[in-house]
Amino acid sequence: MKKILGYCDDWSAVAGGTVSFKISTYGPDRFEATLVRVICGDVDPAHGIFQEEEIDAPLNGEHKGHLQPIDAGSYAVVPQSSSMDELGSFTVQAWVFPTTPAKGEQGIITNWQNDRGAGFALMIDGSGAIALRVGDKTGKVSDVSTGVPLAERRWYLVSGSYDSGTGEITVRQTPVEATLEKLLAGEATGTGAYSSASAPLMFAAFPDILSDSRPSSARHFNGKIDRPRLSAGVLPAHDIAAIAADEGPSARHDGIIGAWDFSQVIGTHDICDTGPHGLHGRTVNLPSRGCKGYNWTGNEQNFRHAPHEYGAIHFHDDDLYDAGWETTFSYDIPKDFKSGAYAVRLRADDDESYVTFFVRPPKGKTTAKLAFLASTVTYMAYSNYHWLFHERFAEVTEAFWTTLQKTDVFLQEHNEFGLSTYDNHSDHSGVRFASRLRPILNMAPGTPCWSFNADTHILGWLENQNIDYDVLTDEDLHNEGVAALEPYTAVLTGTHPEYYTTPMLEGLHQYIEGKGRLIYLGGNGFIWRCAMSDNFPGAIELRRAEDGIRYRNEEPGEYYLELTGEYGGLWRRLGLPPQALVGVGTIACGFDRSGYYRRTEQSFDPRVAFIFNGIGEDEIIGDFGFLGDGASGSEIDATDLLMGTPAQALIVARSEGHSANTLICPDEIGFHYPAMDGVQSPLVRAEMTFFESPGGGAVFSVGSIAWAASLPHNGYDNNVSHLTENVMRRFLEVTPFKIPATPG
Ligand SMILES: [Fe+2]
Repeated sequence: MKKILGYCDDWSAVAGGTVSFKISTYGPDRFEATLVRVICGDVDPAHGIFQEEEIDAPLNGEHKGHLQPIDAGSYAVVPQSSSMDELGSFTVQAWVFPTTPAKGEQGIITNWQNDRGAGFALMIDGSGAIALRVGDKTGKVSDVSTGVPLAERRWYLVSGSYDSGTGEITVRQTPVEATLEKLLAGEATGTGAYSSASAPLMFAAFPDILSDSRPSSARHFNGKIDRPRLSAGVLPAHDIAAIAADEGPSARHDGIIGAWDFSQVIGTHDICDTGPHGLHGRTVNLPSRGCKGYNWTGNEQNFRHAPHEYGAIHFHDDDLYDAGWETTFSYDIPKDFKSGAYAVRLRADDDESYVTFFVRPPKGKTTAKLAFLASTVTYMAYSNYHWLFHERFAEVTEAFWTTLQKTDVFLQEHNEFGLSTYDNHSDHSGVRFASRLRPILNMAPGTPCWSFNADTHILGWLENQNIDYDVLTDEDLHNEGVAALEPYTAVLTGTHPEYYTTPMLEGLHQYIEGKGRLIYLGGNGFIWRCAMSDNFPGAIELRRAEDGIRYRNEEPGEYYLELTGEYGGLWRRLGLPPQALVGVGTIACGFDRSGYYRRTEQSFDPRVAFIFNGIGEDEIIGDFGFLGDGASGSEIDATDLLMGTPAQALIVARSEGHSANTLICPDEIGFHYPAMDGVQSPLVRAEMTFFESPGGGAVFSVGSIAWAASLPHNGYDNNVSHLTENVMRRFLEVTPFKIPATPG
């Protein structure tokens, strides 16, 4: 089992800067740390290419370890205030859309003190019904429940009131009227004794304390909460209904203590109180906002156009933004430190983990003509990926048996480490956020060769060919745009640069339009729009709107990204397809066996003679490799003039030999039909493409995730490696490329 894990605060550190590492042990009280440069993380002994270089650093050596807990699950919190502390009689209410009403006790609006059993909690009880709990500080705790279980994924107005004069408690749950079904309402009365909790107010959870004494949360509510209100006095049902629908209830009812409007300041941590006391609060662990409220009509799809219909926050008990661990040690990176991929290797007992990060050159400097653009946004999208073992059809999709690594088992047992954007939450809603501020078990040397670790096949190849490179990350491109790339003669992608924010795509486009040279050494790239925000550094947001290869569904009516307000989904649906950027875009996927490439007529054009230096006219290219035994595979891309492949682009090689399990992507077809596989359909092929840009730059695309896994074959001596090097050497020459005057 895992005995040690960690993360760091920066994936794009700068030589001369500092990175902080946060480590937790699970059992051992000591561990060993070693800084390494990651050269190739493929540990398959049959490949024999794993390579890391130990680097002298003050952090190297033995350290004391201890367990650092995680407060997972999203909620919102309003600081303790006198207006809540002085409550007498009160009514608390909200619209709720429970997604797991049967999972056990869940806090909806709580102002609770665990130790003394004081305060109130409007909650779902163990029977799935709405209940109000009150406590009087003396250990007397009273629950009054409607006793009527809530239906899953239906809106209810729920409330609880307490009369300080009589001790009477009234709870109610009223379903939103529906035309095709009749849901049960519930109402009950009882008695209890209430005394103020002297505690913060929480939405969607109860308070708790972590083992390291940090305040935290427990018994999270799964689902949506809209328009919560807290009022003085015992409100009759019609007043509760009136202020529930009101956007500014303070004007209607002078007993309002707090009336929160979650449709305000979407895209931030903040929640706004419209009531007289300004009881503003903040969300924790990135619950989802811009969500349809109880009154959503379907007339608008954009939360900015109808904020009053998007007053809900969707909370999940497995959301996580920042694990918040204390720093175990920091590393001051020397100014002359070599740019590259690095990791702190952690060892405790018989277990080993890595904390991976990248180092770019000192600000304003380059140390090579080539930049490797690490796909850190895609690494985040895949972080702590659970899909393979939660998806019933994973094995037929992947066409291989699911094998569990030690890390997979650990993640199953530790849901507090959060999910990837490929997963569903415990309530079956799709995961929209992924963060790097937590241990990420699948972004490390030694993990399966996908995403980050597949990219180390490229890093290992660069080292072996003695090609100098700097490393930049997606976050650099997002933050700095084209300025991050411009100092470099050529930029090299990883195997799978799938997720792009708008500033990233614009920056890369500008680089290509100018004199930049881009080598796209992957497949299924530039596919999904996602978002990042300065409000949530280290996190990405993704909404898988409409169609596309999807591992989870998106909620209709919630296709707009809350961090930017942009419409989410596939870049091709947004009018910026990858074909218009790099010549090729995804056409097919298949994970059992890869194909190989054959040169085309266009490969004999003098414009591309440099690519095939030393490669024979009829030579098969890449009928070998560590991913499906071929260079064209996994996820493959082809040209499409209608999608914007530049007219001057040359298709210089095309793949063959694909399997019956390699299928045309849903993005490509309007209607399914037989014969969509690699054996029967000529559309299933990767197209190796080259084109020059107007500014003297050029793009070379292989259109295959498997390409890089062929580079190390035969000690890096093979035609995939030679061809890539031919391209690389020419792309690093200063001589501008000339775009042909007549296309074709
Ligand atoms: Fe992907």
